[in-house]
Amino acid sequence: MVKLTILLILLLISILSYVCSYKILVVFPYPGKSHTILGNGYVRHLLKAGHEVTYITSIPIKNTNKNLRQIDVSSNIELFTLLENLDLEKQVNKVIDLEDTNSLLSVIRNIANNTLHNKNVRTFIEDPNENFDAVIVEWLYTELYCGFATVFDSPLIWSSSMDPHSMVLSLIDEDPNPAYTSNHISHFDPPFTFTQRLNELWTIIDLKILRWWLYDIDNKIFADGFTTAAAKRGRTLPSLYEAQHSGVLMLGNSHVSSGKAMRLPQNYKPIAGYHIDDEVRPLPEDLQKIMDDAKQGVIYFSLGSMVKSKSMPSDMKSNILKMFSALKQTVIWKFEEVLPNLPKNVHILEWAPQQSILAHKNCILFITHGGLLSTTEALHFGVPLIGVPIFADQHVNIYRAVNKGFARHVPLNKDMAEDLKEAIDEILGNPKYKEKVRELSFVHHDRPISPGDELVHWVEHVIRTKGAPHLRSPAFDVPFYQKCYLDLAALVLAILIAIKIIIVKLVRLLFKKPGLKKKIN
Ligand SMILES: *[C@@H]1O[C@H](CO)[C@@H](O)[C@H](O)[C@H]1NC(C)=O
Repeated sequence: MVKLTILLILLLISILSYVCSYKILVVFPYPGKSHTILGNGYVRHLLKAGHEVTYITSIPIKNTNKNLRQIDVSSNIELFTLLENLDLEKQVNKVIDLEDTNSLLSVIRNIANNTLHNKNVRTFIEDPNENFDAVIVEWLYTELYCGFATVFDSPLIWSSSMDPHSMVLSLIDEDPNPAYTSNHISHFDPPFTFTQRLNELWTIIDLKILRWWLYDIDNKIFADGFTTAAAKRGRTLPSLYEAQHSGVLMLGNSHVSSGKAMRLPQNYKPIAGYHIDDEVRPLPEDLQKIMDDAKQGVIYFSLGSMVKSKSMPSDMKSNILKMFSALKQTVIWKFEEVLPNLPKNVHILEWAPQQSILAHKNCILFITHGGLLSTTEALHFGVPLIGVPIFADQHVNIYRAVNKGFARHVPLNKDMAEDLKEAIDEILGNPKYKEKVRELSFVHHDRPISPGDELVHWVEHVIRTKGAPHLRSPAFDVPFYQKCYLDLAALVLAILIAIKIIIVKLVRLLFKKPGLKKKIN
């Protein structure tokens, strides 16, 4: 008996020394629903792996775990003026331009500034007893949150919500080659035509100029936000530029099944799909019955969590509804208002359990705005798409899906009901879309380990290897002129000029006419 107890104690000790619990800070203060879903994914996997997580969020998680502490920055929601802009009526009538990067950056900057001045955040970062083994920070058009890693002097891990692009890759490596890589706000997919290629190059340069132009404002917010906290720990705050280039790893919500097989540095790890629940949650009873009974299949229609379908112009609404009513399939429409005279085959849901709907065997088509979470989920569950992209990376996501052969694109406009009908007939009538999405779904799933386990592995790897310096890209330390061999070009040019001067001098010397000189004399 005593022997057994000793054995058990020894076993317990060895397990305890094996399962290391780390303290990890997860920073996702942006008040968008889909970005919070990405942040919640980190929290869920890290807690499951036994770590202690502190989570800075605008939308706190309700059922808390004892290892989870949340820092509430929900005051950010008030600043989320982007929500007003996502009014479909204005968008359809072209009253607003959602592609105006400058105004996007200013909304994002205000949210960041508000986060850094938030009372809860200030108390938290100014407490010198706080410390972390790693800090995970979402990059979304701002680098400002990298200061959390600086203050706590912990390894900085970036999380990027889109397919990798110049703005994020330049933080850990270098800009991708614009000749064959589309930017996140691009409307094209390679191979590019000449003008598209110029356009891609210009996008990179334009964004760089814009960021350079606004750097001083950002640097000031950075200094105002973090100087005191750093000083309380006896540290001087570096410049924002220095801090933002100290990231050791980037975890990206991307995967080759939905994106391109682009060249990536070793410290970028694609983990798209990690936000998807490990097990499909059961549907509510009524919805389960609707989907089970839909012998002709279910078309699921959702424009995401940011765009409110009720801001849709009313004639557009009624045309779409009329078109749906003529279909033999069942339509599940995520919509925020009750519609009168609803056809029998159309069901409105104010909130839709999207993953469970897509997972149902009768779901045959997904009409989506093309957000990366939705396109990833469609691939995960193998459902073909019709994309109605509205802004940001949605265009490029849909163009990619179209090029990959599992989607049709329908531009957002007042008369889109007709185009939508045509696209529905095409996708449901031609088996190639379903086959393609099945093929890519296989690619999405066929990985050595699940994306959630991969996430945990790399975070722990960074901590265990004290910041994973071996993953750092050598390109990161080489200035642009050296990468392009501009110094060699200058040297060759200088030699050519020198040779030219020497030749000219020699020619002058050799062919100098002695007679001419005499005359002058
Ligand atoms: C940041 O927020 C503070 C406090 O609300 C405000 O005083 C400051 O002007 C803001 N800075 C910028 C650049 O918006």
